Amino acid sequence: MKAMIQDKVQIRVPARKTQTPWWAPAGLILLSAIPLTFGVIRLIQLMSGAEITPANARFFASPSPVVIHIISSAIYALLGAFQFVSRLWQRGLKWHRWVGRLLVPVGLLVGFSGVWMTLFYPHTDNLLYMFRLFFGSGMILSIILGFISIRRRDVAQHQAWMTRAYAIGMGAGTQTLTGMVGAMIFGKPNEFENALLMGAAWAINLVVAERSIRKQLSPLARAA
Ligand code: HEM
Repeated sequence: MKAMIQDKVQIRVPARKTQTPWWAPAGLILLSAIPLTFGVIRLIQLMSGAEITPANARFFASPSPVVIHIISSAIYALLGAFQFVSRLWQRGLKWHRWVGRLLVPVGLLVGFSGVWMTLFYPHTDNLLYMFRLFFGSGMILSIILGFISIRRRDVAQHQAWMTRAYAIGMGAGTQTLTGMVGAMIFGKPNEFENALLMGAAWAINLVVAERSIRKQLSPLARAA
């Protein structure tokens, strides 16, 4: 009942100078296409009982977290891209709210399963281990803060935290790009170089997110 009443409360949405261009969600979906394709291949391998090798043994030994991770990250990456389309949250908010209610638990599943795999799958690269714990926890925290902000009707903070969470999630997509650049520079990167390339992808995404957060808000909302 309380939730229904709250749904009817008008949320003040900060004014924007421009509408989201069509290529923004398209670009985000494209960015996640490569990791999601690898995810589908991994799911097929796990379901079809492919040959177990040292490279995939951890996934066969404990498949649940990686299956949860791949399915939740596909939903989060694809539907999440449309949460940034201003037309969908400025008009009526219904689409944005319903999808948002799904994406909060789904995004938390992405983060928690990622952190779980970091902690419990065998690893040799300590720097990458630290990066994954740091950014995975950052994604979880950002989703929680984004959720708390919107319950308090603070749209500007909600947008900012959800943008940060999505940027961290999209690290998986940017890592394929930094990986390609790394391969051009280093040939086959060693563990340390690989960790730096993956960390750089998260850092790049967060810089882009911060710039977009500042750019999106009208002077009025920024002051608020
Ligand atoms: C929407 C965003 C994300 C997508 C699309 C994504 C995608 C994937 C995919 C497809 C895999 C399976 C890789 C394979 O089969 O070899 C995977 C594994 C993994 N992901 Fe993510 N991921 C996302 C976010 C995150 C985040 C935020 C973390 C942070 C902790 C994370 C940590 C991991 C870990 C630790 C693994 C296991 C890696 C391994 O042991 O080789 N992921 N991810």
